[in-house]
Amino acid sequence: MMRRTLPLLLVALACAPGDGAIDLDRLRQADDEPDQWMALGRTYRGDRFSPLDQITTDNVTSLGFAWEYEARSRRGRVEHGQEATPIMVDGVLYASGPWGSAFAVDAATGQERWRYDPEVDGSYNRRACCDVVSRGLQVWNGRVYVATLDGFLVALDASTGEELWRVDTFVDRETRFYTITGPPQVAKDVVVIGNSGAEFGVRGYITAYDLMTGEERWRFFTVPGDPAKGPPEDAAMELALQTWGPDTDWEAGLGGTVWGEMNYDPELNLLYVGTGNSTPYSGWHRDPSGGDNLFLVSILAIDPDDGSLAWHYQQVPWEIWDYTATANMILADLEIAGTMRQVIMQAPKNGFYYVLDRATGEFLSAEPFAFVNWATGIDPNGRPNINPEAVYQDEPKVVFPTFAGAHNWHPMAFNPVTRLTYIPARESGMVIDDVDEYDWSPGGYNVGTLALWEEWFVERMLPEDQTLYRETLAAHPGLPATSTQEFLVAYDPVEQEEQWRVSVGAAYSAGGGVLTTGGNLVFQGTQAGTLVAYHAESGEIVHRIETGTGIMAAPITYAIDGEQYVAVFAGANSWANEGAARRDYENYGRILAFKLGGGATPLPPRRIIQETPEPPADYVVVPAEATRGEELYIEWCLGCHIAKGEATLAAYPDLHRLSTETYGNFSSIVLGGVLSAAGMADFADVLDADDVAAIQAYLIREQRELLAEER
Ligand code: HEC
Repeated sequence: MMRRTLPLLLVALACAPGDGAIDLDRLRQADDEPDQWMALGRTYRGDRFSPLDQITTDNVTSLGFAWEYEARSRRGRVEHGQEATPIMVDGVLYASGPWGSAFAVDAATGQERWRYDPEVDGSYNRRACCDVVSRGLQVWNGRVYVATLDGFLVALDASTGEELWRVDTFVDRETRFYTITGPPQVAKDVVVIGNSGAEFGVRGYITAYDLMTGEERWRFFTVPGDPAKGPPEDAAMELALQTWGPDTDWEAGLGGTVWGEMNYDPELNLLYVGTGNSTPYSGWHRDPSGGDNLFLVSILAIDPDDGSLAWHYQQVPWEIWDYTATANMILADLEIAGTMRQVIMQAPKNGFYYVLDRATGEFLSAEPFAFVNWATGIDPNGRPNINPEAVYQDEPKVVFPTFAGAHNWHPMAFNPVTRLTYIPARESGMVIDDVDEYDWSPGGYNVGTLALWEEWFVERMLPEDQTLYRETLAAHPGLPATSTQEFLVAYDPVEQEEQWRVSVGAAYSAGGGVLTTGGNLVFQGTQAGTLVAYHAESGEIVHRIETGTGIMAAPITYAIDGEQYVAVFAGANSWANEGAARRDYENYGRILAFKLGGGATPLPPRRIIQETPEPPADYVVVPAEATRGEELYIEWCLGCHIAKGEATLAAYPDLHRLSTETYGNFSSIVLGGVLSAAGMADFADVLDADDVAAIQAYLIREQRELLAEER
């Protein structure tokens, strides 16, 4: 008996699909398997539409808690943001988290299968402009591909989470602040990864690696390098170089980083890549010739076999406002002017909704989905008419949208039934000003501009003198207020017309990514911790679930044994500039799943705001030193730590409430790096002992004031 069953058993094992069994054929036919969610945007089209229709506008009111999975980043006291869309295949849900961690859990129960910690050096926190997030992983042929914040692309065994290989994707980790926050993308035989860091001054690129071995196949730079140091790497760089003047500040790195989702169209065998903003933003400091500066803020179509450029479309020639083409892109077949077109669509930061032919790159249409004044329109060949009133070279200007964009990375979704795109959109303007001189300086921001928006932001950045901000606003009457308003916008891409919009909140970054379903629903979470379900046709709110955890990532939906689930990776950003979202509950990452008939979502513990301790009594504050310390604090610390009196927003320790003991360790923390592993890097490369003493003087001054106010 034994002899006979054994071979049978082996055959059965060989035939059963293993964990993470996604390949190109299966992904191409994703519509035949609506129970699965096999790519960040569900299918290769990336529309984040699921045909599942068990949960409908009629019964969604009974949608409730099914399970949760706690995914703490386990690094120090600070929990970081969750931006990843999960993948669900054959009953297992996979997602990436802060630092490039990864999780696999049972999709019906939330029970952990494995977790992966890449053990990233905590000092990389300082190199990330906007938290140590990860926007997703890819599951492919029994493997999970994920990128770590510190630049490694890793292949894991989908069944065990064990590392199969890891490759260093960085061209320079010594002098440049590269990080990776974007997801990898499989394109035929390769897995492609970009990076982040344009705020600090890096040269953008993507690299393709062999799926099996991790061997490098090709690299595509998005902006040229210094021609004095060598000829352009390839034909694309030769083309790009012609759009940069001879006095370009090559040392600045120039930017163009690829930190958003990419797409791969298997029918056309094209990889679509969106590039980011410039370094520095101020074009006259970067390239005084005023050239187009390819390939900043562009959509690129690349042949994954050899990394050659098939076509490109630049949204913002000579980018000067931190606009990027890194928002998610959606592939669709749309009838436009009587002809079926294979299109690619994007609603990037700059506020226009773009529709291009994805085979050729031909520009089809673009209209604003939010208020914009940087351009007066896009002409028929796809070139924007830039408004001179938005160019801030000689004087500060009021520009819409802000740096943060009319739509940022939070994924939008397209519903082929309603034929509407649902955009997490934002109306906001900024006062933007030039810096007189610019030289690339290592170790910090290299944006070459000052931009301000929102009262709370202006107050914390310019505590003393707000004249520039007020006068600039006054000099531009007739523009909408700069205070941010967030909306969920339903937009018709064929008619280039808004169908409806619903206000999501005034707080900065209130609305998260979007999911739309065959149940005629749209789902979106908020930073305030609510998962909201909308009627896809009318925008009516049909259900709200309070979770107590800020949500930025996009929800997904899937079915197990005939039961439909909605799941989202909840977790608010720790980045203080994201601000204004009150944190009533402790913030930590958790994957939350919901189903019909589910219960109330368990809330995290309430956050306790510590009392202000007595600052060192014998410390004598020298006023001039404290004033200098305040400037240093704003430049080097405020990006993570909060301003005085913002305790309700705090993710990082409140430095205005330090104990005498911590003051005793102050310089070993700030210069000696004793908390580096927990994410508090040392600043010895940019600050000296006098600077740190000045910051301390400022903090003690503030703490005494705070204590006096509290009494
Ligand atoms: C990139 C983010 C980041 C920046 C910028 C940053 N810090 Fe921190 N800091 C942290 C983190 C994370 C912690 C908490 C580490 C832990 O969990 O122990 C921390 C903790 C501290 C602490 C210990 C507080 C306590 O209550 O124990 C001090 C002091 C401190 N930081 C000072 C500074 C100063 C001064 C600056 C500016 C020069 C600065 N930090 C800039 C991330 C940052």
